[in-house]
Amino acid sequence: MNLKISSFAEYNEVYKQSVEQPEQFWDGIAENFLWRKKWDKTLEWNFKEPKIKWFQGAKLNITENCLDRHLEKNGDTPAIIWEPNDPTEDHRVLTYRQLHGKVCQFANVLKNNGVKKGDRVCIYMPMLPELAIAVLACARLGAIHSVVFGGFSAQSIADRIIDAQCEVVITADGSYRGTKEVPLKNVIDDALVQCPSVKRVIVLTRSRTPVAMIKGRDVWWEDEVKKVETQGNPDCPAEEMDAEDMLFILYTSGSTGKPKGVVHTCGGYMVYTGYTFANVFQYNPGEVYFCTADIGWITGHSYIVYGPLSQGATTLMFEGIPTWPDAGRFWDIVDKHKVNILYTAPTAIRSLMSFGEEPLKGKDLSSLKKLGSVGEPINEEAWHWFDEKIGKGNCPIVDTWWQTENGGLMISPIAGITPTKPGYATLPLPGVQPVLVDEQGNIIEGNGVSGNLCIKFPWPGMLRTTYGDHERCRQTYFATYADMYFTGDGCLRDEDGYYRITGRVDDVLNVSGHRIGTAEVENAINMHSTVVESAVVGYPHDIKGQGVYAFVVSPNIHDNADLTRKDIMMTVQRIIGAIAKPDKIQFVSGLPKTRSGKIMRRILRKIAEGDTSNLGDTSTLLDPGVVDEIKNGAL
Ligand code: PRX
Repeated sequence: MNLKISSFAEYNEVYKQSVEQPEQFWDGIAENFLWRKKWDKTLEWNFKEPKIKWFQGAKLNITENCLDRHLEKNGDTPAIIWEPNDPTEDHRVLTYRQLHGKVCQFANVLKNNGVKKGDRVCIYMPMLPELAIAVLACARLGAIHSVVFGGFSAQSIADRIIDAQCEVVITADGSYRGTKEVPLKNVIDDALVQCPSVKRVIVLTRSRTPVAMIKGRDVWWEDEVKKVETQGNPDCPAEEMDAEDMLFILYTSGSTGKPKGVVHTCGGYMVYTGYTFANVFQYNPGEVYFCTADIGWITGHSYIVYGPLSQGATTLMFEGIPTWPDAGRFWDIVDKHKVNILYTAPTAIRSLMSFGEEPLKGKDLSSLKKLGSVGEPINEEAWHWFDEKIGKGNCPIVDTWWQTENGGLMISPIAGITPTKPGYATLPLPGVQPVLVDEQGNIIEGNGVSGNLCIKFPWPGMLRTTYGDHERCRQTYFATYADMYFTGDGCLRDEDGYYRITGRVDDVLNVSGHRIGTAEVENAINMHSTVVESAVVGYPHDIKGQGVYAFVVSPNIHDNADLTRKDIMMTVQRIIGAIAKPDKIQFVSGLPKTRSGKIMRRILRKIAEGDTSNLGDTSTLLDPGVVDEIKNGAL
């Protein structure tokens, strides 16, 4: 079966088949990948436990799909183009042959350092080709990578390392973000105070910030590579993996507790990311594809590394930020590397939009053919700006809805094929069976309706478990509604059957496209010495999509409110990382609670949104007076 759909009629046909005969459909798609041994059984599943097994009995290594299989015909095709933070520094290009060589070499480094199949390796690195190399080298050996985004704090890293019992950490001395230098290795050192499981830290040179290199534990990447060179073993045969062996763990926030380690497995993830990449972006050989995400998030895993590379694409990695040295940075990159496909986030679009058209002057964007958006709802204004100013009205926009747990794109237009509508993720991709349900779990049929978004049938890229805690996986995703995967998103289906994601219906915030659990932020705030309790809600933010609004009970402020606010921010930065810092902190004498002690978030959300006209029934509150005080003090 052809991997790529080429017309809307074909989409409709393929979609129908994928629902009527899902196993046959995925069998046909999976034929397009390289397997050492084919599967005995396409799918076995139930959403009760849950138990989801795709391509059982098949043997493969995803890196043979991403690297080896391209060497013969496309060895000299650029696999990765890397653009540095500082535009005056040279960019780098790695062909498939070179990338293959470097992955094998680094896999041998890992082997020399005791890494073997099934071991967990934490990766905390800047956006350098070496990050992709480290990820692929783990996959080559069958080691399970757990990439942690460079913006997370030492405490967050420690939590993740402890949860996965990682024995090896790969990092760099420091990283550059605009004018800032982030001391990654120092952060790792702080984290490792709590992590006795870690026996080895491999440190790449980037900023050459002074770092503590601990004898017996820390080694330099470059020295280890030299050792492999002198050993003279450039190749590294790929470990044979079972389709359902773990490929990686990626931590993500939910509405309760600490982040969960979402587990993806080798076979299904490979097929799903490759299939969705090829289709949604309608990738053609020779095109340059630029995804602006960080590999620390699922978008980077699936659509900078695995998806594009399994399709032999040229994927561009960018180390810096969109607004440095100026707000024309993305457009310079598009112009310089003749980018054909640009995949970015609404928050970046809104931020760049706010600089007006000046940064676009003199930039040739005519190479662009397709545009993509991901991570949060895209407002119509941003959609139109992206369409008109960047795509010049000639580029289809794919608004792609999906989640860390999904592995790959779920509801999305196929570029140039699915008719689009601003603000709509449009239609489910083949193999994806979305349903809208009401609070009682009844499926809402028909069009022109809205409800909670669930998926009622498995797809190959879905999570299999949450690391070390299968019950948590069941509770979080499969227990709210029987026999369905619950996304946590609200959604409407319009008269044409088009889907529009309206945002989270649980206590998860989406700040600049980053998922943040309100409970996590509250826990961090509550760790500040003067705080008694707190409640965190989201509010609409022009650039970030959502901002973090914290209501804090802190009766004994240390010196003054402003300084205490800053102290609380610093506490959150220490515990989680800068991305979770509240935008607003309002000190209150108490929180609105029901008589049973439950915080009435609905009321706080309305106040944070500035909509205090109708707060609903407050008579059931323990102390209704507190609402007026909070309302009057709103920021
Ligand atoms: O609320 C949805 C929002 O991002 C959440 C998933 O976040 P994360 O796991 O970090 O993955 C982000 C990148 C895949 C979803 O539950 N979201 C993601 N894409 C969209 C979106 N909301 C609206 N439109 C989208 N295109």
